[in-house]
Amino acid sequence: MHRFASITAALGIISQVAGAFHAQRASDEQALSTPSPEPITVTQLPLPPVADSKVGSCTPEINPNGTGCLLKSSQVASGNFLPDDKHVLVSMNFTGAPAAPDPASIYDGSHLALVKADGTSFSSGDPWKCITCGVSEENKVGSSGLAPYAQSFRDGKRVLVGTNIVDCGEALLASDDCTPDKVHIYPLRWDNEADGSGPGGVIRELRLHPDNVHIGFNSFTYSNGQLGQLAYFGRLEFNPSPKTGEPRSARYDIVKVTRLFNPDSPQLFSTEGGELFLNRSAIAVGELRGFSGRGKEVTFIGNPVESCNIDVFAADLTTGNVRRLTSHPEYVDPIDVSPDDKWQVILDTRGTGRQMFMAGMRGIPPIIDLIATTVASSTRNNGPRRFFNPWLLDRDGDRDNYYGQQVNGDGDGSPGSINDEDWNAAADPKWSYDGTRIAYTENLVVAPSCGGSNPLRCPKSTEPGGRVTRLMVAHLTDRKALDLDPVDEVSDDIPWGVPYEPGSEAPDRPVIAGGNYTLKGEVSGSADVTIINDTKVPGAIKTVAVKYHEYSDDGVHVIDGSERFTSTVKSITDNHVDWYSDLTLSGETTGTKKTSPDGFHLEIDTMTNIFNANGTLTTTIDGKEWKQPQNGT
Ligand SMILES: *[C@@H]1O[C@H](CO)[C@@H](O)[C@H](O)[C@H]1NC(C)=O
Ligand SMILES: *[C@@H]1O[C@H](CO)[C@@H](O)[C@H](O)[C@H]1NC(C)=O
Ligand SMILES: *[C@@H]1O[C@H](CO)[C@@H](O)[C@H](O)[C@H]1NC(C)=O
Ligand SMILES: *[C@@H]1O[C@H](CO)[C@@H](O)[C@H](O)[C@H]1NC(C)=O
Ligand SMILES: *[C@@H]1O[C@H](CO)[C@@H](O)[C@H](O)[C@H]1NC(C)=O
Ligand SMILES: *[C@@H]1O[C@H](CO)[C@@H](O)[C@H](O)[C@H]1NC(C)=O
Repeated sequence: MHRFASITAALGIISQVAGAFHAQRASDEQALSTPSPEPITVTQLPLPPVADSKVGSCTPEINPNGTGCLLKSSQVASGNFLPDDKHVLVSMNFTGAPAAPDPASIYDGSHLALVKADGTSFSSGDPWKCITCGVSEENKVGSSGLAPYAQSFRDGKRVLVGTNIVDCGEALLASDDCTPDKVHIYPLRWDNEADGSGPGGVIRELRLHPDNVHIGFNSFTYSNGQLGQLAYFGRLEFNPSPKTGEPRSARYDIVKVTRLFNPDSPQLFSTEGGELFLNRSAIAVGELRGFSGRGKEVTFIGNPVESCNIDVFAADLTTGNVRRLTSHPEYVDPIDVSPDDKWQVILDTRGTGRQMFMAGMRGIPPIIDLIATTVASSTRNNGPRRFFNPWLLDRDGDRDNYYGQQVNGDGDGSPGSINDEDWNAAADPKWSYDGTRIAYTENLVVAPSCGGSNPLRCPKSTEPGGRVTRLMVAHLTDRKALDLDPVDEVSDDIPWGVPYEPGSEAPDRPVIAGGNYTLKGEVSGSADVTIINDTKVPGAIKTVAVKYHEYSDDGVHVIDGSERFTSTVKSITDNHVDWYSDLTLSGETTGTKKTSPDGFHLEIDTMTNIFNANGTLTTTIDGKEWKQPQNGT
């Protein structure tokens, strides 16, 4: 059938490499039936007409209603739906406004807007409405950028966006009553000084818990010579007149904060004598991604549990029980769980082949990953370009030969089509409250990820005005609208976390001490592991070398051979990597993971993500070769 042709093709690529990982669980997993592909229709929502950044370039000819233009080169960032499911939140850059006192002068800069999702218009005649345009300085003291990750509260009056809460008082954001004079933009503040002074800690990637009372967030750390990150959970408390800290204006304080990392709990790796132990049930929160629909679980990118394979996990906020949601070798990052917890939408590079050269071989324990994770999560991008598509997975996630359904798979791949590979999905995809639709943004590849010396020619935009960003909605047309009770408030306490004391130092993640160890396979064989300290960077590991002897954690994938990975820290975000691999896989699937005789040498900065390598790393699975991207692509 035409409808699923491209989905089947995509699954065809991946089923031959994936295989079943946990054979000991295979019988349970087979009992869980996997869903068949369902009909999905993808449509686009309207955006304002485009203009360039010259004052007045958003002329009455371009927008007769004087309600703003979108900066042509900019990317919008969609959020979730309003609780009425008739509007999608969008952060966007308005530009070209005439000078004040023209009433249209307010449509300038980065703002939070609503876009109609039901084909109707606001009373202005436009299908969009800027919420924060024209808000007075006194109503936004201490606020910051109105992007990304706009997330509505259930009251339809407030939105968490960036590190702010946009609040329209008594008015619904979508109503004509919500005028700029009623809008306040309150900053969020996380107290990080014992005496409550200062601007608070720098927080990022905020996610609203569905109880609308708590949030999760991440904060960078600098330890062992590298950029790291810790995740936190806290309670929102409106503070109309703060007595300490900055800003000294109405704000939301994040209180009763818990750090989602306990250095004293079981870690992914531990040692005893000369033995190395791998505990896949350990809670290893790397970057917090959000919460389940009913709010009982936190979702996160975890430490890899198979080498070079970045996955999303969920942990129960109360029990700490960890579920691995994805296992496909490709790179996954954003995730949104459906309001009823039964489904999830992820953004993933699966189907593109991007990461298969390093992650395609299954069953390798994540030992070099003690220092290789940064590389695995940087090579998935090319500069600002992501290679993401949205994928629909059921609650139990990847298993056996089930790797979900590509949400936008049903297109012809032509320029501008819904699965044109030059259009890449951007964070975050979001479910409607009724569970029948998913909103997401897509951006067109632009220079320097194409054009110039790059072998990829820049495509011409097919969108109105040549814009390079678009707002998509996937309609799951066979589904019935959900009607769920509001989510109950969860506890402030997370028993497996650590209550955060303002002023306390962020703990370092435990490092495996230099030395020689043996790791036993869960089913058979063993691995000799050598860990060598970095003599220049205290606490950092310089080299991990592993020799495998019929090593198997699942009885299905058997690993032999050796690899050696050395990381040289050039700067806090930049690594030089010298990598030698000569691994073979036997069992249900066969393959090799090999570097060229002179090794594979890579430099990549986590902030710029430009692939720059000498030598090759190639993974071959059942005769299919997966090669690294060309430098700069
Ligand atoms: C959008 O506006 C923000 C804030 O003014 C700015 O940082 C960002 O660079 C702009 N984006 C583009 C694509 O110009
Ligand atoms: C301006 O509003 C009118 C209705 O009042 C609408 O038909 C038209 O599409 C709007 N213009 C733009 C550029 O959206
Ligand atoms: C592995 O981690 C889990 C979760 O913290 C813990 O319950 C379990 O005891 C650990 N196993 C070992 C062998 O340490
Ligand atoms: C670790 O093993 C390597 C290679 O087998 C050997 O050269 C080295 O001396 C050993 N180091 C220690 C501390 O035992
Ligand atoms: C390596 O560093 C760890 C601390 O990270 C330290 O405990 C250990 O003694 C060091 N080992 C060697 C061989 O220098
Ligand atoms: C690749 O080799 C060239 C020439 O020896 C060298 O200048 C460059 O630094 C190397 N790049 C990497 C990533 O190793």
